[in-house]
Amino acid sequence: MTETSFTPRVFSGIQPSGNLHLGNYLGALKRFVDWQTKDVESIYCMVDLHAITVWQDPADLRQSTRELCAGFIAAGLDPEKSILINQSQVPEHAQLAWVFNCVARMGWMQRMTQWKDKAGKNTQNASLGLFAYPALMAADILVYHATHVPVGEDQKQHLELTRDIAIKFNHDYGVNFFPETEPVIEGAATRVMSLRDGSKKMSKSDPSDASRINMTDDADTIAKKIRKAKTDPEALPSEADGLEGRPEARNLVNIYAAMAEMSVDQVLADVGGKQFSEFKPMLADLAVSKMAPITTEMARLMENQDEIDKILARGADRARAITAPILSQTYDIIGMVRPVEL
Ligand code: AMP
Ligand code: TRP
Repeated sequence: MTETSFTPRVFSGIQPSGNLHLGNYLGALKRFVDWQTKDVESIYCMVDLHAITVWQDPADLRQSTRELCAGFIAAGLDPEKSILINQSQVPEHAQLAWVFNCVARMGWMQRMTQWKDKAGKNTQNASLGLFAYPALMAADILVYHATHVPVGEDQKQHLELTRDIAIKFNHDYGVNFFPETEPVIEGAATRVMSLRDGSKKMSKSDPSDASRINMTDDADTIAKKIRKAKTDPEALPSEADGLEGRPEARNLVNIYAAMAEMSVDQVLADVGGKQFSEFKPMLADLAVSKMAPITTEMARLMENQDEIDKILARGADRARAITAPILSQTYDIIGMVRPVEL
């Protein structure tokens, strides 16, 4: 019943809580699309059950979930090649999460920086779901025996916890059932920063819309936000060392490199010595040429919501062929009586 080696399988998730932005695109979505060229089974998930750990208006949540699915496809994911799902249609995620709630320790959860950030000072008033969030995330991944998880830098700690849960489960039950999943945090833009403040991550919850490029922004808005992005008065350096202590400059160069699929060194070899007044229009042109077609395609896909709903239903079907047996084996391992043929 136990497995000793695991076939490579990719899983990742994004919360459908509105405002898909450039950080999500470069840190996550674009990486997913890159994985698609490799011959590995992959599952990409709109984590609606995670989204409700903080309040979501039901109509907005439904809209955001479909919009995220449209974003996945518009960015280049092929729903035939990859499995696209929303988490709540694959019940094994939540079922395995309960088991993991009983494996993970309170102390582990308390150390999570996302919990500390999101719960703020008033932890007594945060939802129990927000606290248990990482156990559900571990279940998302491990219910597929996924081996690789492409994410942005901010998810590193959650992935370490996912490994801790797998290790403790395997150890407690004396099995080698769950893999120790590898985080895949790669590329020039694993942490895209706010356009208004180079010390803050670009985030959907930043009250300033000018701080981020949304995937629904039109070409003019994208260009305007880049023009207004905070910078320093120096010219661009010719080498990466020269970005030390210049977070805003570093961020814009990283964004350029990720979008142009170049290394930071290559970009600086080209633009070193230029003023921002010259570099920003170059960046704006590049951003518009990469993002605008995605935005247009997202809008087109959103006109046919029935099609999106069918893609998600079909994805759930395919997903459950993987998750149902893994959950069933998990229940068996932990001593739950399994249904017999009647
Ligand atoms: P979220 O929107 O928080 O569900 O994040 C979805 C994915 O986008 C995760 O893989 C994050 O690590 C990634 N992500 C979110 N914000 C950023 C950012 N500012 N830079 C790079 N990746 C990000
Ligand atoms: N916690 C992730 C985020 O906020 C979203 C997420 C949920 C996820 N489950 C996952 C990412 C599983 C990767 C794998 O970005």
